[in-house]
Amino acid sequence: MHIMIIGGAGMLGQKLASAILANGEPLTTGCKKLTLVDIVEPDVALIKSGSICEGIEIETITGDFSDGLRLSQIASERPDVIYHLAAVVSGEAEANFDKGYEANVKASWGLLEALRAEHEASLGGYCPRVVFSSSLAVYGPPFPDVVGEEFYLRPASCYGTQKAMVELLVSDYSRRGFIDGISVRLPTIVVRPGRPNAAASSFLSSIIREPLKGEKTILPVSPSSVVWVSSPKVTIENFVRTGLLSAKETAETRVMNLPGLKVSVGEMIDGLKEVGGSELAELIVPETDEVVSKIVLSWPSQFVTERAVQLGLIGDVDFVSIVRQHVEETSAQ
Ligand SMILES: NC(=O)c1ccc[n+]([C@@H]2O[C@H](COP(=O)([O-])OP(=O)(O)OC[C@H]3O[C@@H](n4cnc5c(N)ncnc54)[C@H](O)[C@@H]3O)[C@@H](O)[C@H]2O)c1
Repeated sequence: MHIMIIGGAGMLGQKLASAILANGEPLTTGCKKLTLVDIVEPDVALIKSGSICEGIEIETITGDFSDGLRLSQIASERPDVIYHLAAVVSGEAEANFDKGYEANVKASWGLLEALRAEHEASLGGYCPRVVFSSSLAVYGPPFPDVVGEEFYLRPASCYGTQKAMVELLVSDYSRRGFIDGISVRLPTIVVRPGRPNAAASSFLSSIIREPLKGEKTILPVSPSSVVWVSSPKVTIENFVRTGLLSAKETAETRVMNLPGLKVSVGEMIDGLKEVGGSELAELIVPETDEVVSKIVLSWPSQFVTERAVQLGLIGDVDFVSIVRQHVEETSAQ
């Protein structure tokens, strides 16, 4: 099996690559080649650390994946499973309208077109599994307290609109039999390691990660704000499981909300205090940011995830465990 991760140098892309390479992961059993595509050179040494990677060829393709020649190269390799994780994230897609549509919509459509061309060149023999990372940002207000799987899409950001557009493309290219696609709507992933990024939700990781390092951080929303989150570990496990679904299961699904945890920002800070000590909360400085508040509060905070659960996907137990997971992972590095 050949697995490709587009956005393979990103936070989730790197973690997914490590999981695929780790001994004992179900995808590893059949994986012979792993290709990482990203505009930034993926750190293969980091991805391989702690993995056994026996018998798996690792290839990197560095550059903008929307480039026509690169798209042809990607498709001509005929990967069996493609995780499409590359994106211009929420804050940046809102600030830079053209960049967001170019990367998030046009490039994704270009990818699907290149895969369709390969499908046709193979006389229908090539039909890859495509897992597209969508987001809860496809929903917008007003919404009920718990958003059902049948709830209609009314994104309140460019990013959410772009994700919704690609979900539809993935479904339609699958309906026509060019690919076997599935879009998974991710909760906000916390705690994100490393530095803050351009996502409007970036502070949700910063308020845990920075105090744990003894650094001050800004809280741009009210502590009563409620969000829907998932840990990196659980998200990666769900990506792996989605890659392994049968064609019948994806045909019956095509898009689903991933399990998450409903938590208020105040409860997140309580989790931080429980793991790291009460004094860490003093490093969180309230400073309202209207732009961030508006985007983040336009996202629902609880979803029905019945379909994902039926398919064997999992959620985090509680927020304290998410903080502990981050502490364990950073102290192991
Ligand atoms: N992290 C979250 O909280 C979250 C929540 C919902 C959805 N998602 C989605 O999950 C995916 C992965 O998220 P992440 O947190 O790892 O993001 P990330 O920003 O860390 O990674 C995205 C990667 O895509 C690459 N990329 C962007 N444009 C590219 C292009 N034109 N060509 C090649 N590479 C390109 C970037 O260089 C980056 O390495 C994204 O699609 C994101 O929208 C993430």
